[in-house]
Amino acid sequence: MPKPLMPQDYPQYSAAEVALGRALFFDPLLSGNRNIACATCHNPAYGGSDALALGIGEGGTGRGAARQMGRAVQRQARNAPALWDLGARQVQRLFHDGRVEQRGAVVRTAAEGQLPSGLNSLLAAQVLFPLIARSEMAGAPESNEIAAAAQTSAPEAWAMIARRVGAIAGYRDMAAPADIDITTIANALAAYISTAFRSMGSDFDRYLGGVRSALDPDQRAGMALFYGKAQCSQCHSGPLLSDQAFHNLALPPLGPGRTRRFDPVARDAGRLAVSDDVRDSYRFRTPFLRNVAQTAPYGHNGIFPTLESVIRHHMDPLGASADFIPPEGITHWQDVTELRRIRAAFLAYPAKAQVPATLHQRQVDQLIRFLHSLSAPQTDQVAVPETLPSGLRPFGD
Ligand code: HEC
Ligand code: HEC
Repeated sequence: MPKPLMPQDYPQYSAAEVALGRALFFDPLLSGNRNIACATCHNPAYGGSDALALGIGEGGTGRGAARQMGRAVQRQARNAPALWDLGARQVQRLFHDGRVEQRGAVVRTAAEGQLPSGLNSLLAAQVLFPLIARSEMAGAPESNEIAAAAQTSAPEAWAMIARRVGAIAGYRDMAAPADIDITTIANALAAYISTAFRSMGSDFDRYLGGVRSALDPDQRAGMALFYGKAQCSQCHSGPLLSDQAFHNLALPPLGPGRTRRFDPVARDAGRLAVSDDVRDSYRFRTPFLRNVAQTAPYGHNGIFPTLESVIRHHMDPLGASADFIPPEGITHWQDVTELRRIRAAFLAYPAKAQVPATLHQRQVDQLIRFLHSLSAPQTDQVAVPETLPSGLRPFGD
C-alpha cells in the first residue's frame, strides 16, 4: 500500500506566484486571438478537464459538454487530462505519451534547445507548449502575430506573449519585483497548477493515515481487489496510482490522431512517437487515478463515458472494443485496418498484467466505489477569479 499524500510531496511556491499563475490560467489574453484560456480545457468545474472525449481548442465557443466547434478546424487529438497532482515531486512524465519528461536533472521535450532558462519545474516546461499550438491556443497563422511567429520560432512567439502580458499594469504589479518574461509566466502557471490541483485529504488518504472507518466495507472490498486479484495496482501503483509507465490497452481509435513525421497514416501511436521503439506502439502513460470519479470521460481519447465502461474494457481489451459505440458528434475513424494494427501490437507486446475477465458485477461495483474514495475536497484556489488584470472575461468565451 502507498503512503498518503502529504504537503511535503509538493514543492512550495510563494502565494504571490500562485496568485499570478491563477489569473494567467483563466486569462484568454495568453491565446493568439484572446478567445481561449488554459481553463477552457482544464476547467475546475469539470474536475480539471473539459467533460469532452476530445476537446475543442481555438475557435470553439462555450464550455464543457456544451462547447461547440465554431471556427475550430478539428478536435484535439487526445482527452484533456485533469491536472491533479502534476506538481508532485514524484511526477516524471507529462502528457499521455510522456513526451515532456524528467531524466535525472534533464528535462526532455520536443523543443530541444529552445526552452528558456530558469524554469522551476517539469510542469513549467510543459505549459509552454499549449501556448504556441495552433489548435490549442495560438490559432491560425494568418489570424494573429503570435500564431504567425510560432510557425517559425517558438522563442519569438513566447517573447510576444510575454510582451502582451507585460503591457498590463496589473500583471506587472503582481509579478514585481520580477520582470515579465516567458519564464515568469511558465513558472507562475506551474506554481498555480502544482498548488491548486492537489488531491490530499481524500478518504483513501485518511484510510492510509490510519483511519480505518474512512472507507466503508464495499470500498475496502474494492481496495482489496484493486491491490489483489483484479491486478490494478500492477500498473496503478504508488500514491498517485500510476507507475508512470506506458501500456497498450487496445483502445479503439477515435478522432483526428496525431500525425507523426514520416507516417502517412493519421493515427495516434502513443509512446512510439517519442521512443521510436516498435514495442511502444499504442502505449500510453498509466493515468493517475486521484479524483478520477470527477474527470469523465476516460482513456487517452476519452472513449469511455463511465468508470464501469473503462473497467469492463480492461477486463477484455480485444472483445470489448469490438462492439464499441463511439460518442456522439465525434468522427470515429471506423478504421478496421488501424484497429487490427492496435490489436496485433497488443498481442505481440503483451502488457505486464491483465485484469481478469471473470470479475463479477458486484466486484466491478466495489472497484468503482473504491475509485470514489480517491476524491479529495477541492480548495478555493481552484475557483474561477471574478476579474482579471487584463480586463478580459475569464475563459474568453
Ligand atoms: C484546447 C484544449 C487545451 C488548452 C487550451 C490547454 N490544454 Fe493542456 N492539455 C490538453 C490536452 C488534450 C492535453 C493532452 C495532450 C497529450 O497528451 O498529447 C493537455 C495536457 C496538459 C498537461 C499535461 C497533463 C498530464 O497529465 O501530463 C498540462 C500540465 C497542461 N495541459 C496544462 C495546460 C496549461 C497550463 C494550459 C494553458 C497555458 C493548457 N494546458 C491549455 C488540452 C488543452
Ligand atoms: C497493464 C496495466 C494496467 C492495469 C493492470 C490496469 N490499468 Fe487501468 N489503465 C492503464 C492504462 C495504460 C490506462 C490508459 C489507457 C489509454 O488511455 O490508452 C488505464 C486507464 C484506466 C482508467 C481511466 C483513467 C482516466 O483518467 O482516463 C481507469 C479508471 C483505470 N485504468 C482503472 C483501472 C482499474 C480499476 C484496474 C483494475 C481493475 C486497472 N485500471 C488495471 C493501465 C492499467
